[in-house]
Amino acid sequence: MSPDISTHVGPISLERPTMLASGILGISLDVFGRLYKEGAGALVTKSLSKEPWDGYPNPTIIGLKHGYLNAVGLSNPGAPYFAKMLSQNQTVPIIVSLVGSVPEDFTFMVKQFENVKILGYELNLSCPHVEKVGLEVGDDPELVHTIIKSVKKESKVPVLAKVGLGSSDYLETVRTACDSGIDGITAINTLRAMAIDIQTGRPILSHKIGGMSGSPIKPVAVRCVYEISSKFDIPIIGCGGVSSWEDAVEFLLAGSSAVQIGSAVGEKWTGVFSEINDGISKYMEKKNYKKISEMVGIAKKF
Ligand SMILES: Cc1cc2nc3c(=O)[nH]c(=O)nc-3n(C[C@H](O)[C@H](O)[C@H](O)COP(=O)(O)O)c2cc1C
Repeated sequence: MSPDISTHVGPISLERPTMLASGILGISLDVFGRLYKEGAGALVTKSLSKEPWDGYPNPTIIGLKHGYLNAVGLSNPGAPYFAKMLSQNQTVPIIVSLVGSVPEDFTFMVKQFENVKILGYELNLSCPHVEKVGLEVGDDPELVHTIIKSVKKESKVPVLAKVGLGSSDYLETVRTACDSGIDGITAINTLRAMAIDIQTGRPILSHKIGGMSGSPIKPVAVRCVYEISSKFDIPIIGCGGVSSWEDAVEFLLAGSSAVQIGSAVGEKWTGVFSEINDGISKYMEKKNYKKISEMVGIAKKF
């Protein structure tokens, strides 16, 4: 019998341990359907705000030797638009990513999805390049506490917090999230970075500073998952630089129960999820693991 690659992130059950990370392929239900068929256990939407946001002017994304540098500016059509779209056609496991500045932004958005079937919410407390949201919220413990408390009170589905590396200790954000009743942590978002055109001397991104993603950030993300899992009793989803089954296994051993894949989906497009799921399954067979949970956090024993 082949190993069971289904997994749980706290109250969230997934048929497969690989998910699409937020922001990589927007909110197209056609694309989500295709990736689900290809093996994604869940699809995380682009972060949605209370109202539509335009984002920044181009250039907003640069391909690096490995991975990307982006400051898209969270352009999205708004939570009410997506909730309506989903209410008309919902067939795949979707986690809705939400972004806002104050608790009322988040509770307004949660109300929009009241009668729509979704797996859960992921609160974006970590976008590194938009003012008054993302990391600026994640860096403010009082705000993190009131946002999570308000969303938990309003939501009928599990709520995850996505953390990143800002100007305060991210482990304090995790601590506050845990104390406020969060169901799980996604770690990590992109890392603040920039690139300059040496001919003109201009920063390349219109926003100048953006977030770096892809394989170069993997060791940082693995370290964060390991630290969170060592210090807190909270389900974790690892994210950052996963592009092979070996990367995914590393995150599971560090302590996450599932992984999200972003840049590698942009780079390879097809086949990433099935390839990684197959690799995890073969690895489990070889190591005699029957269930994903048997390998989660093994690295902490050493
Ligand atoms: C173009 C682009 C847009 C992104 N948009 C979002 C977003 O809207 N919300 C969010 O939480 N993360 C966003 N991210 C971050 C990813 O979800 C992920 O955390 C990060 O890219 C690290 O994973 P990766 O190395 O597999 O890409 C974005 C990343 C990229 C490259």
